[in-house]
Amino acid sequence: MEDLDMKKIVLLYPEKIGKIAPELYGHFAEHIGGVIYDGIWVGKNSDIPNLHGFRKELVEKLRAIHPAVIRWPGGCFAEAYRWYDGVGENRPVRPSWWTSRNCGRTESNAVGTHEFIEFCELVGAKPYFAVGVTSTTPMEARDWMDYCLSPRGSTTLALQREKNGHPESFDIPYWGIGNENWGEGGSMTPESYAMEYRRFAMVMENMVKRDPKYHFFAGGADGRHYEWTRGLLGTLSGSFATMQGMSVHFYCNNSKNPLEYTPDEWYFTLNRGAEIEDLLCRHYAIAQGYCMEDRAKLVIDEWGCWYTDSGTGPSKGYNLYEQQCTMRDAVYAGMTLNIFNNHCEKVQMANIAQLCNNISGLFLAGGEHCITTPIYHVFDLYQNHQNGTGIRVLTENNDEMKNRVSVSASEKGGILTLTLVNCSYENEQEVDLQLLGADWNSRAAGQLLTSSDLHSYNSFEHPDTVKPVSGMWDISHPIALPAGSVMSLQVRLNH
Ligand code: AHR
Repeated sequence: MEDLDMKKIVLLYPEKIGKIAPELYGHFAEHIGGVIYDGIWVGKNSDIPNLHGFRKELVEKLRAIHPAVIRWPGGCFAEAYRWYDGVGENRPVRPSWWTSRNCGRTESNAVGTHEFIEFCELVGAKPYFAVGVTSTTPMEARDWMDYCLSPRGSTTLALQREKNGHPESFDIPYWGIGNENWGEGGSMTPESYAMEYRRFAMVMENMVKRDPKYHFFAGGADGRHYEWTRGLLGTLSGSFATMQGMSVHFYCNNSKNPLEYTPDEWYFTLNRGAEIEDLLCRHYAIAQGYCMEDRAKLVIDEWGCWYTDSGTGPSKGYNLYEQQCTMRDAVYAGMTLNIFNNHCEKVQMANIAQLCNNISGLFLAGGEHCITTPIYHVFDLYQNHQNGTGIRVLTENNDEMKNRVSVSASEKGGILTLTLVNCSYENEQEVDLQLLGADWNSRAAGQLLTSSDLHSYNSFEHPDTVKPVSGMWDISHPIALPAGSVMSLQVRLNH
């Protein structure tokens, strides 16, 4: 007889979805609030242990989870940024995009192109540069590329780069053109943005002679704004402008306090977060309708759960959009990453917003303190999916969030990685794992992120309240997932 309390999860081993790009585990570091200054950057002369000015503890912990790519310098900030302010000596202090909303904090330009590239090298990530279109010109964008990419000694800007300490060119494979151009990035129509994109892309691609190593991304829609995607792709489909991806932004907006929630608010947040699955399928389907699925493969370059009640982070509201992250955010992040893995043929990159002290941050830092949030641990648990081959998973009785187990699976080098999220606030759920089309070892090594109090979070005073435990599981028997938990398992295939 069927056991109604048991959820059957079936991995269809022969059904390969595609390669899980490491870039699905990407990050975003904008010059906003406390992300850069007193977040990742403390300065070379700081008493706080640092590597070339970057917070050593954060660098080491970030490196440990293999961040594939980091988007920089914004966000909205990119739309009013002058790259040449951030190179060389005597850097000017400017108002930034966020100055008016950010306690009047100005932009020192202490972190510019060279420093950010150094940060990427320290943590082992590829840089993804966002170029503004509202306040700059294609020529300024080309100059930035010239400065970064031209071979040693070949141009005046390459010589300037050398004078500034870096004779060889930088390796910057990803270039985004514009940010949220339907909103604060110029409040454009999709058609008018598409014309801007054409101008920028024509000039920028010429700089790299269509070398396939470089990827140019067009600025896509906000959430369910499908009209934007239709207007953008309709205008770009017949153009010569190069394009290797289209961004989508999705914030799981929540009008409440991140620390205080009822079970209903837990489910509200997860249901809202789960919407990303449907919307990414629809944006991709529109791209397919224009035969542009290769050119417009999705780049979800901002995603996260954004609570409007501010001031719950350690800076108590000083850092713009800084918020605490609880187990609810860990479950939300684990569920979202499973969705990306399960649609890895449609999504080429995803960047959680943001790395430190902002929205769904992996770190909270300030002064001598630097802690990891539950979201950091989720990225740690999921890192073995990077470069794996996604495998189709079927889960029974999974419609209601109250008893949903979100799952994804991938294979790499004879090891299956499974990540499971029990979305239930109230109930432990037992899962019966089955593999079709292959045979596996019944002993699985894994990690479990859970807490007896689902409101738990890490703070400067208690940095390890939420952290994973490692163990071995016998998957020939049903395994128990505590309510509101995230689990990662590694299973060896028998050949
Ligand atoms: O992530 C914070 C801001 O949210 C970004 O600058 C902007 O792109 C988005 O609206």
